[in-house]
Order: sequence, then structure tokens, then C-alpha cells
Amino acid sequence: GITRHYTFNIKYHNVTRLCHTRSLISVNGQFPGPRLVAREGDRVFVKVVNHVTNNITIHWHGVRQLGSGWADGPAYITQCPIQTGQTYTYNFTVTGQRGTLLWHAHISWLRCTLYGPIIILPKRNESYPFEKPYKEIPITFGEWFNVDQEAVISQALQTGAGPNVSDAYTINGLPGPLYNCSSKDTYRLKVKPGKTYLLRLINAALNDELFFSIANHTLTVVEADAVYVKPFETDKLLITPGQTTNVLLKTKPSFPNATFLMVAKPYVTGRGTFDNSSVAGILQYEQPSHNSSIKNLLLLKPTLPALNDTNFVANFTRKFRSLANAQFTATVPQTVDRKFFFTMGLGTMPCPQNTTCGGPTNSTKFIASVNNVSFVLPSVAMLQAHFFGKSNGVYTTDFPTKPPVPFNYTGTPPNNTNVSNGTRALVLQFNTSVELVMQDTSILGSESHPLHLHGFNFFVVGQGFGNYDPNKDPANFNLVDPVERNTVGVPAGGWLAIRFLADNPGVWFMHCHLDVHTSWGLKMAWIVLDGPQPNQKLPPPPSDLPKC
Ligand code: C2O
Repeated sequence: GITRHYTFNIKYHNVTRLCHTRSLISVNGQFPGPRLVAREGDRVFVKVVNHVTNNITIHWHGVRQLGSGWADGPAYITQCPIQTGQTYTYNFTVTGQRGTLLWHAHISWLRCTLYGPIIILPKRNESYPFEKPYKEIPITFGEWFNVDQEAVISQALQTGAGPNVSDAYTINGLPGPLYNCSSKDTYRLKVKPGKTYLLRLINAALNDELFFSIANHTLTVVEADAVYVKPFETDKLLITPGQTTNVLLKTKPSFPNATFLMVAKPYVTGRGTFDNSSVAGILQYEQPSHNSSIKNLLLLKPTLPALNDTNFVANFTRKFRSLANAQFTATVPQTVDRKFFFTMGLGTMPCPQNTTCGGPTNSTKFIASVNNVSFVLPSVAMLQAHFFGKSNGVYTTDFPTKPPVPFNYTGTPPNNTNVSNGTRALVLQFNTSVELVMQDTSILGSESHPLHLHGFNFFVVGQGFGNYDPNKDPANFNLVDPVERNTVGVPAGGWLAIRFLADNPGVWFMHCHLDVHTSWGLKMAWIVLDGPQPNQKLPPPPSDLPKC
């Protein structure tokens, strides 16, 4: 591989959408941010210079960071933030991955405006295991707030209430014609007939899983989270925040007498306030110039699943299968060293004494937890504390491996809802083979949680609705061709089982990729210890690693 150098100047940039102008925090004055392009095997340096007043970190979402945990980016997990006027150079090698990922800020809600595609091309002499596309197009979904989203989340955390929802969803930063004052800000994908396009779909939205479809066109899914999958066709798909999906779009053989809307709208279960709006872009066949008589083209709209169509989502999630081809994919661990069961979901806590707050009742505030622990970020970075043996006062290593009382959801909320705050980590020996079952608690109504694990790809070996049954369900686990991903939805009112090999020493964050749930505490950290060999040890921190 070669070495690639990028500079990300974090600075303010005025952007107008929906007739509202905001001074956004941007990378290099671009919104959405620039593409990071590398080939498999390349080494990447990104020099991040902070010219704004907020603290900043950047995360390379899905990049495995093998032996480079200092470059992962989540604030107070692997690094202290880059403060105003400071610089930090992220340094990592892209190993054993090719496809689409995303980079985004990883502190508070700053990823609302600080995000962009990561495009990992195959090695020079390697081709795709599918038809070579005529063109490759990144399509990134996001959310637009007319106001500063940092004020939205800080007010919500102060009052204990649910935060205000965004004002629009966006495609490549553009809300599109279904919103007021927005038709000029519409994404147009201009295509030629009879060609194959590779669309690199990225969900960088803060708080919503999204359905997506293009009117009258079928998509062939070929890759997810920078791993090739067995191709399958679909006319609509679901993509959760943090997920990336590559699809092939075959255009019609001749010029159709129509233009086609591509639409994304949210998949929402069990939430009080939500935004049921849609972002649209236009798929436009570039008419040959001699064909000037074509006017008043039909504008066709796709049909999308209903807002809460959990069955569509579960069936769609099951369609992803690994190529199970040793050239491109790792093998799922066939045996397991340690098994864990995590309940996760939303709940409530009493308001601080003598106050009323804005949760589901006047005396409660929203909280979220894993095994009844609502994770609290420390004020110094866990990875440094771990590396220098100074965990005292920073974190404890007693993260519960199962919920405090056995979980049983039978349609009424379980009674084990006592949540405590803590910075508690779960320690794994190097090369432990892990099986983790995650169960949605459905305490405040069942809700899907797009779970993201840093530092690893995991294999999705099983999923189901209702209670996970350790005596029955493992018999149906897929240990042949389970999909390998870094983010997957734990189904609303159900469970999901993953396996991964803890072959990457460091401190690795795991959290719901709905930012509001992360803010409420649906997060935890794994610590993977060094292995015996020199190449199985976490190297010392780079000298420019920011200090808290
Ligand atoms: Cu895409 Cu921890 O994040």
C-alpha cells in the first residue's frame, strides 16, 4: 500500500437550508465533509486542526484500527478531545477491508455536521466480486437542524426530556423538494441508460434508521459495512445510523419518459416524538441533446414500508449473508470462550430532588442502559488510563455480564428497572472468542437499537422476537455464512446474537448509534488485553495525543 495524507481543518462555515442559515462546524468549509479515499492496505494520516471553540474528535467508523487504537477517536474512550487551537494526527492502516465506511465527529452531537464517506478501493490488482460499475456514487443520509443541535441535546439532558427532532433528513446534505423552502436544495443523480452504477449508501443521520427506495428501479445489495455479501435484489432497504450498504443500480436500457424520485424516510417504533418527514432526491436520465422534445416528464415516487414496519426490517436484516469466501471474508468463530447476555433499552430515573423534569412523567427523566448500567463518560481517556495502569478513579472493570435479575418480557414491562450510573468496562483476554446476545428491554415500548462495536467486525449469528431462549435458540444459529458487520439493529421487542474474536488490544466502545440513546447512557466499553507476541500488544500513544 501507499501512504495518503489528509488535512481536516475544523472551522465554521455558513450553510443555508430550509431558509435558515447556520454557522456550521465543518471540515475544510465543506458540508457534508470531504471523502476519504484509500486502497486496502494503504496507510492514512489525517491531520485534524481545531479552529472552533468546541472540543473535537473524529472517528473512522468501521475501520478496524488493528494495533492502532489511539486513532479510533471516541472522546474520553480512546482519546481526550482536540481542544481549540490544537492538532492531532490520526494514523492508521486499512487492513483486510474494502468497501464503504464513514468518518464522523465522536463527541456530543457534533457528527450532525461533521461527517463524510470513507471509500476503500480494492488493492490495485484486485477486482470486485461483481460486475464492474460504470460509475461509483456516494449517497450519504443526514439530518438538518434549523438550530444548533448542541443546544438541543444539552437542553434535553438538563431537563430530562426527549430532545427536539431535526427539521429535515438530507441526501448529501440536501433536504429536497418535499420540504418547504427546499426544492432548490435537491440532490440529482444524473445517469445514462443501460449502465450499472455502484451507489455507496451511508446513514450518517443522528437519530433515525431510514428506509430507502428509488421509484421503478431494483437495487442489488453487494456489500455491507465494507464487507462483500451474497448479492440479493430488493426494491427497498433499511439502513441504520452507522451502517453502510453498497448497491448496484442498473439503469433502464433506453431513455424513459419519466424522472424518478429516490426517497428516504424513518423507521420508528415506540417513540413519543418523531419526525415522519421524507427526503427526496431525483434520479434523472440525461436526455441526449437532440431529443429536446421531451418535456413534462412523469415524476414517479417509490412506495416505502410503513413507519413502524418491524417485520420488513427483520426480514430485510436476515437477507444479509457473508460471501463465506476465504479471499474476502473472515470465518465466524465456531467455538465460544465467553458468553454474555446484555439487556438494552430506555428507562426512567427519578428527577433530582425537588425538581420536576421533562421525562415521561413530571418526576422522571429519560435514561438508557445496558444490563441496568447507564454508562458515564469519564473525564480522562480510558485507553490512556488502561495503558499506563491508572484506572483508579477513571473506570472499574465490573461491567455486569448479565442483567441483575433474569430478564423476562411477557408483554408487560419487567420489574428490574433499577438503573445505576457507572463507568464500568468488561475485560477480555487477547483472542477470546465472544458470543453476545443483546435483548431489547421494551420498558418504554419496544424500540430497535442500531448497535455499533468499535475495533471489530462481528458476525450476526441469530435474531428473533420475544425472549431469547438459551436452550432452544442457539440450535438455529447460522455458523456457515453469517453476515460480518460493525453495526446492526437489535430488533424492537426481540434479540440478536453476535460472535467476534477479540484479536485487537485496546479499549473499544460499544453503543447504540442513535445519538439520543448514546447520550442517555446506552453504551459500554470492552477492554481487550495485550497478547503475548510483540504484534499483539498495543503500542505506546503517539506524542501528539491530546491531553485532557
Ligand atoms: Cu459511528 Cu462510536 O460510532
